[in-house]
Amino acid sequence: MRKYTDQQMKAFGLKPERIPKHVAIVMDGNGRWATSRGLPRAAGHRAGMNTVKEIIRAASDLGVESLTLYAFSTENRKRPKDEIGILCSLLIEYFNREIEEMHRNGVRVKAIGDMTWFPTAVQETVRNAEIKTANNTGLKVNLALNYGARAELVRAMRLAFAEDPEADESAIAQKLYTTDSGDVDLLIRTGGDIRVSNFLLWQIAYAELYFTDVRWPDFTMDELVNAFRDFAGRDRRFGGLKSNKAK
Ligand code: FPP
Repeated sequence: MRKYTDQQMKAFGLKPERIPKHVAIVMDGNGRWATSRGLPRAAGHRAGMNTVKEIIRAASDLGVESLTLYAFSTENRKRPKDEIGILCSLLIEYFNREIEEMHRNGVRVKAIGDMTWFPTAVQETVRNAEIKTANNTGLKVNLALNYGARAELVRAMRLAFAEDPEADESAIAQKLYTTDSGDVDLLIRTGGDIRVSNFLLWQIAYAELYFTDVRWPDFTMDELVNAFRDFAGRDRRFGGLKSNKAK
């Protein structure tokens, strides 16, 4: 739910009609942020957790409808056990600490990915957050946990074809985890790498892509506003010829 007035949006250099409806973020660079400061990687993830809070707040205040955050990929399961344990503890801590405020702000939380892989405590914490916020009508936050786009697509196609062997694109799209949020308008990746890493492959078909060297713990509301200004200047033609500046 947008908090800023049109006047305030103007001061940011933003027009409400040019705010991306669905923003997806690959939150990369926590480890490098920490090691470049002589800190353990865990400190980077903790700092990254604080950025998650700030960016959820900022996205809501700027009028974004859906925010999909890549918190843990299926490939991240290859990381050392202790780092996975730290990420799980941070997730639990995050929800324990922030769920009330997110709920007050009308945020609806949904996990996307195969949650069954996680320890029961993580599954329960996330499930409780989903149940508590299920009827909220503000920003939809999709948290990708043990998520991989190819696995999501296999799952969606199996479900759609089981119902109808002639299932079309829209029938498959309805079986994606993010079906309520629709296609991604803007995909942001922090941390300097220029790749998609098996994130939302179907949903980003016509997304605008924004890559920044800023590492996730240093990604602030100002950085988000920069990305939105850049997005607003893109000429989105969706394969057609007619100019259709980012809506
Ligand atoms: C990428 O940095 C980040 C992750 C694999 C985890 C993302 C986790 C958070 C942002 C914190 C916890 C989240 C919540 C929602 C509480 P990296 O470790 O790959 O960084 P590197 O590429 O510099 O090593």
